[in-house]
Amino acid sequence: MIRKLTVTALTTLALATGGALASEEIHTEDVAFSFEGPFGKYDRLQLQRGLQVYTEVCAACHGLKYVPIRTIGDPGGPELPADQVRAYAKQFEVPDDSDGAEPGDTRPAKPSDHFPPSADPKAPDLSLMAKARKGFEGPKGTGLNQLLRGIGGPEHIFSIMEGFTGEEKEEAGTTFYENTAFPGGWIAMPPPLSGEDVEFADGSPNDLRSEAEDVAAFLMWTAEPKMMARKRSGFVAVIMLAILASLLYLTNKTLWAPIKHKAKSEDE
Ligand code: HEC
Repeated sequence: MIRKLTVTALTTLALATGGALASEEIHTEDVAFSFEGPFGKYDRLQLQRGLQVYTEVCAACHGLKYVPIRTIGDPGGPELPADQVRAYAKQFEVPDDSDGAEPGDTRPAKPSDHFPPSADPKAPDLSLMAKARKGFEGPKGTGLNQLLRGIGGPEHIFSIMEGFTGEEKEEAGTTFYENTAFPGGWIAMPPPLSGEDVEFADGSPNDLRSEAEDVAAFLMWTAEPKMMARKRSGFVAVIMLAILASLLYLTNKTLWAPIKHKAKSEDE
């Protein structure tokens, strides 16, 4: 039994250090996103720009099938006005589920529909990518980098956008592109952004860095749309606990006061 446990422990250790070694080769850049820290908030205009980058560039291959389109109008998100949400939804075609529709029929999407799934079967769905990746950044995969320096999924996505070296290779009929942020160093995604890929209506900078930051922030929002509400309730809980703790302390003092007082006078 003990031997079995030791073997299991050693294997786990070997796997864990192996993972950590692999993650040490990759380069993730720290970005100061507006939503980091206990008081961080999503930047509404940044989410709108990220949505635009996603729609005009990434959606050609990737999907967001877990995200209902209507949520881009929700408070705390990109907060598009209702008429714009309806207009946005219409550009996607979804399977027609109305009565009398033939299999294979499509109709324009409504806000109640979800974003379409990935168009390219090799491109992963991005709805939860920002949460799925890099939760365990840091020395030996402990997650310390995320806790102490706020490096997480959005930094991973940003660094992938920025990490292409320009090298390519072909293997088994697939072209791989060298990327300093991708585990293994070679990714099957051609560099999606090169700067000036989109034109922002408000004239915000559209260099590669800005576009990558905006789309990474947007994908963080799709993965965790209620982050602000979660932080707020956490804060309320901490305040409540602090009040409760001080009340308990005072109650304890009052309850014990006569006994302690008596003990003291007996000593004298
Ligand atoms: C031409 C199609 C295409 C476009 C356009 C594209 N991607 Fe990808 N993407 C892929 C493919 C294919 C993969 C899978 C790569 C692999 O596993 O090697 C991928 C993987 C990814 C990953 C996963 C990395 C990981 O850790 O597994 C992220 C994040 C990503 N893409 C983000 C984006 C963003 C953001 C955009 C838009 C700016 C975008 N992609 C545009 C094809 C595309």
